[in-house]
Amino acid sequence: MENIILIASVFCLIIVVHGMENILADDIANRWNLDEFEFDEGGEVDDPLFWRSERGSKILVNVDSLGAVGDGIADDTQAFVNAWKQVCSTPKSVLLVPKGGRYLVNATRFKGPCADKLIIQIDGTIVAPDEPKDWDPKSPRNWIVFSNLKAVFFQGSGTIDGSGSKWWEESCKKNKTNPCKGAPSAFTIDSSSAVRVKGLTFQHSQQMNFVISRCEAVRVYNVLVSSPEDSPNTDGIHITGSTNVIIQNTKIGTGDDCISIVNGSSNIKMKMISCGPGHGISIGSLGKDNSTGIVSQVVVDNAFLRGTTNGLRIKTWQSGSGYVRSIRYQNVRMEDVANPIIIDQFYCDSPKSCDQSQTSAIEISQIMYRNISGTSKSAKAMNFACSDAVPCSHIVLNNINLERLDGTAETYCHAVTGFRYGYVLPSAECLSSSDKEPIITCDQEAEFKKHHSREQLIHTEL
Ligand SMILES: *[C@@H]1O[C@H](CO)[C@@H](O)[C@H](O)[C@H]1NC(C)=O
Ligand SMILES: *[C@@H]1O[C@H](CO)[C@@H](O)[C@H](O)[C@H]1NC(C)=O
Ligand SMILES: *[C@@H]1O[C@H](CO)[C@@H](O)[C@H](O)[C@H]1NC(C)=O
Ligand SMILES: *[C@@H]1O[C@H](CO)[C@@H](O)[C@H](O)[C@H]1NC(C)=O
Ligand SMILES: *[C@@H]1O[C@H](CO)[C@@H](O)[C@H](O)[C@H]1NC(C)=O
Repeated sequence: MENIILIASVFCLIIVVHGMENILADDIANRWNLDEFEFDEGGEVDDPLFWRSERGSKILVNVDSLGAVGDGIADDTQAFVNAWKQVCSTPKSVLLVPKGGRYLVNATRFKGPCADKLIIQIDGTIVAPDEPKDWDPKSPRNWIVFSNLKAVFFQGSGTIDGSGSKWWEESCKKNKTNPCKGAPSAFTIDSSSAVRVKGLTFQHSQQMNFVISRCEAVRVYNVLVSSPEDSPNTDGIHITGSTNVIIQNTKIGTGDDCISIVNGSSNIKMKMISCGPGHGISIGSLGKDNSTGIVSQVVVDNAFLRGTTNGLRIKTWQSGSGYVRSIRYQNVRMEDVANPIIIDQFYCDSPKSCDQSQTSAIEISQIMYRNISGTSKSAKAMNFACSDAVPCSHIVLNNINLERLDGTAETYCHAVTGFRYGYVLPSAECLSSSDKEPIITCDQEAEFKKHHSREQLIHTEL
């Protein structure tokens, strides 16, 4: 009873007149702390000619000059390690992996802290040893790791190639007779801040292609990720324990999530993302083995997904604690996507079955979908599968048009509350509506009154 009163008072509704949708969406975004956030790019050095010139006074360390062969056969690990020692201790230096070379490098950790203004210019290809049997047992889950860096630029037209095909064949997801064991992530930036990654290609990773872990202020743009559709667990970009990350103008085709955002991540913004094949753009999974999962303030703006198994997905395991909050998806176009919009609080990616009747769950609230259109491969174009124990709340739909060729697209709802306004197809009757008129929650009322005269507001109680 207490709960009901609480919910009713927090979630009383205000109906607002026509023509205010933009103001409304922005207002909600403000309330959810989803303002545009940007950070200083750190200026200079886009142009390699700049640092080659005297003026740039950069110190160039070419891996070739330290004995790298670059024929894809010779082991160039030591040359890279030696080059790293030099650049890391020299201010304003550039580590150059030159164009045309194919550099075979073992599992290696390139550690900071380093001297200021380090640039890693990768124009050639860095390739991993392809034989899992020979993999360094001291680094079972990582190939290349950069850690403890501050203000570092990774850039160039080069490729990071994980040579993953033998790892994929050994995966239990590929062949059930294989034992389930992990494989390395190809490229990781860990415990670093003010990082920029520009122009690089990541491909054929053993498992995840590119991991951003425990970082602050990362900007990724013009990056390409490419691994086959049937390569297991090859997430494109995986973000964990990181804040203030922007991913822009990036094209990802892979065998798992194009982008996955997991625990301890907030202020993540993705703009101009192309995804497919792959499993879509995911928050989670979170809450496995009763763990705590927290993700907040995520924006996906301007994305195109084609032929993916999911579109915009939030996935949490039953039980677990924490929350997913303040998420905005907008201006997304999908073609032939199996689950375009999905919240799944019953996620279970385990060979054993999961107990789906737990009394705790990760709380999912304040999720806005706006201007999302395209075609759904499955009938459930929108799927809100939330837990009875901790229902999803404040789910907002505005201007959704998801069709299925045979006209059978529908919305599935379980334990979800929220509201919809504008055009919403398939209609989501589980959420409150007022036809074309936007509705906002009561806790935004005060804010709203500051900007709009009282006559514009018509109140209704829920
Ligand atoms: C790279 O790995 C191979 C195969 O395990 C090994 O023989 C070689 O010594 C390693 N190279 C370095 C520099 O550690
Ligand atoms: C699965 O692995 C087993 C054992 O390694 C092998 O005999 C079998 O041919 C594999 N199956 C497929 C479909 O690759
Ligand atoms: C998730 O992140 C929070 C804080 O960001 C941390 O306290 C918690 O231990 C993390 N959970 C897991 C499973 O790592
Ligand atoms: C998670 O918690 C539930 C309920 O408390 C318990 O039954 C289950 O064994 C726990 N699972 C793990 C992996 O700790
Ligand atoms: C809706 O999103 C599409 C991209 O999917 C974009 O082209 C279009 O301009 C957006 N419409 C509005 C009104 O913002």
